[in-house]
Amino acid sequence: MKVDLYERIWMWGVGVVLVLFFTTTAISALGHHFQPPSHVETIDPQAAMKDPRFTPQGVRLDSEGRVHADIIALMFTWLPPEFSVPAETPVTFHLTSIDVTHGFEIVRTNGQSMVVPGYISQFTTQFNQPGEYLIACNEYCGIGHQGMMAKMQVVPKAEWKAPQVAVQPESEVSHDH
Ligand code: CUA
Repeated sequence: MKVDLYERIWMWGVGVVLVLFFTTTAISALGHHFQPPSHVETIDPQAAMKDPRFTPQGVRLDSEGRVHADIIALMFTWLPPEFSVPAETPVTFHLTSIDVTHGFEIVRTNGQSMVVPGYISQFTTQFNQPGEYLIACNEYCGIGHQGMMAKMQVVPKAEWKAPQVAVQPESEVSHDH
């Protein structure tokens, strides 16, 4: 079969590009161990609601006084749907999903991560501007995707009252891990 020279150049070109794509993906996945954000911490998605790392969901301080937010994603909401953190303070987010992949996005900030069932995504950031922030889902997750929102209040550091654990009295679980 006669293949035109011009066509043959394109075929080889496409072939080379495909090999490059597959190679870079393989190198980052196998060689660099690229995984969901930060360290690879796993969790049983079906048991996440009862997992001590996410019971209760919300904001807490660890034994060194650092602020953490433990948040569960599910179709089509975030738990808790509203929480508050202090301004000008690093906050470490721990996120997991009990069903499908969601996208956690604190709108107009750099607080963003994919939320994948089976994994705990973690990142640390801080908010210098007090106010109300919208948290949206930026990964299509089903029919209610566009309504999957939460609210984050960033409170001036001096006014922030540490964790809202008091409103969830069943939560005397130690969170240090
Ligand atoms: Cu959750 Cu889109």
